[in-house]
Amino acid sequence: MKWKKIAGACLAGYVLGMPHVADAYEGDWKRGHVYYRMVCTSCHAVKAGGPIGPNARTQAEWAAYMQANKHAKGKDSVSYYVSKPYRESIASTNKAAAKFADVPEQELFEDLKAFVSRSAKDGDAPTGCR
Ligand code: HEC
Repeated sequence: MKWKKIAGACLAGYVLGMPHVADAYEGDWKRGHVYYRMVCTSCHAVKAGGPIGPNARTQAEWAAYMQANKHAKGKDSVSYYVSKPYRESIASTNKAAAKFADVPEQELFEDLKAFVSRSAKDGDAPTGCR
């Protein structure tokens, strides 16, 4: 299974994000990265024909996508996949979902936005490595 190998390389040396405390919440791209890779990508790798690299879109395209909040051609929403019920439903097999079980949904959504924006084609650190 080729994608597993790639995921392994990307995971190497990665430390799960530190708890984040803030007054006016600003997206934590590091936590967004962990969540994107471990929740979003682990499904895309098997169900969407392969990982979806953040660098496949520009910052503006990501902003519009996250704003529209329509996932899989409108079948469901992006926010569903950061919701607590969804995290709970996969927590027994997904370490990120378990670790971030209590993070408010809105924060996790902001974290994801920060990550995809940073990693976009025209972002500060474009990455295809999810
Ligand atoms: C349980 C599986 C699953 C999870 C979890 C999941 N996705 Fe997807 N995603 C899919 C599938 C399947 C498609 C392809 C839909 C199609 O082409 O019809 C997709 C497509 C996409 C696309 C391409 C555009 C679109 O909407 O069709 C983006 C971007 C995306 N997902 C982002 C995310 C993000 C961000 C997360 C995590 C918060 C996430 N996905 C979590 C299954 C998943």
